[in-house]
Amino acid sequence: MPQTPLTSLIDNEQYLTERLVQVRRELHQEPELSNEEFRTTAKLRSWLTAANIRILDLPLATGLIAEIGNGRGSIVAIRADIDALPIEEETGLPFASVIPGKMHACGHDFHTASMLGAAYLLKAREAELPGTVRVLFQPAEETGHGAKALLESGGLSGVSAIFGIHNNPDLSVCSFGTRSGALTAGVDRFIITIRGKGAHAAQPERGQDTIVTAAQIITSLQTIASRLTRASESLVVSVTRINGGNTWNVLPGFVELEGTVRTHNETIRAVVPQQITQIIEGIAAAAGVQAELNWIPGPPATVNDEYWAEFATETAAKLGLETQNLEPQMGGEDFAFYLQQIRGAFVNIGTGGAFGHHHPQFDVDEAALLPTAQYFAKLAVSALESLNSPSF
Ligand code: NI
Repeated sequence: MPQTPLTSLIDNEQYLTERLVQVRRELHQEPELSNEEFRTTAKLRSWLTAANIRILDLPLATGLIAEIGNGRGSIVAIRADIDALPIEEETGLPFASVIPGKMHACGHDFHTASMLGAAYLLKAREAELPGTVRVLFQPAEETGHGAKALLESGGLSGVSAIFGIHNNPDLSVCSFGTRSGALTAGVDRFIITIRGKGAHAAQPERGQDTIVTAAQIITSLQTIASRLTRASESLVVSVTRINGGNTWNVLPGFVELEGTVRTHNETIRAVVPQQITQIIEGIAAAAGVQAELNWIPGPPATVNDEYWAEFATETAAKLGLETQNLEPQMGGEDFAFYLQQIRGAFVNIGTGGAFGHHHPQFDVDEAALLPTAQYFAKLAVSALESLNSPSF
């Protein structure tokens, strides 16, 4: 990409827009999966370095943290995620993925390009910044490990407020949404193994049927949300995979089920594994088979701070963006790990489009790139001013 002096980028909105579109397309064309974002990181490093933006020296294999400001005063962080998904792209776009089986199908290329734009805008005003801004380019959001890696790297030390973004195809282009409290859900994964005794399909009495047991377990798991949890709470239990048997006339001695549990309530989240265990052990005992639960915890709910969620909304309104209060979402987001340690808010910006996240035809409207960059630059500066005010 040709290097252009930063000032001419900032002075000319059309030029900055073109640059961010170019960045987004370059990232889109070469998607990399979680923890494999080596080329993406190298590109970011070269773009940031060319703009004289310093990069923190942290023990990270992929991803990076840029810093703008004099290093004194309060520190505010803004975060983009940079990884892609194992999906074969079907958009037919001229800049579609050239890597078979990999695609930016969640719009993290949009997040990355927008935050790079925010970094450019902040760098242009570095001398006047009332503190320090760290711009996080986080790896491995899709696997839920990247936020923890950045936290463990020490790159978040001293940060007083943090903000993150996800594009939202259900919101009109450039409109803004967030909410106080839980925005995305706690996301856990489970695997249930059922071990019995195989038999001839004609003589089930000679074995212990794992298929019928699996069917009973799948049905009964639905009672966790519908009968064991207060109706007003958000909870979804989904079995998404069944593996068992390999032919028509043999009852298998082994079935494996996999699925996910999502809720915004930490108390419910803590009790669901016990409820699953109780159900599977009870049904297994009745059938004379063994059932075992393997619980794989993911990120908790992202719980937005009330002050910063309102602040983020007011900042959007000041920039003339349409704002709305979002309903809690059942998707997951490892930004939650930052919000467990640092107050802040996770927000959505509308990118339009006919297809949802993780769809092979997913796309974003690039018209939202510059407004998103401008929004996060403004949010970071305003948050620093707010942190410096005596009333804070
Ligand atoms: Ni995503």
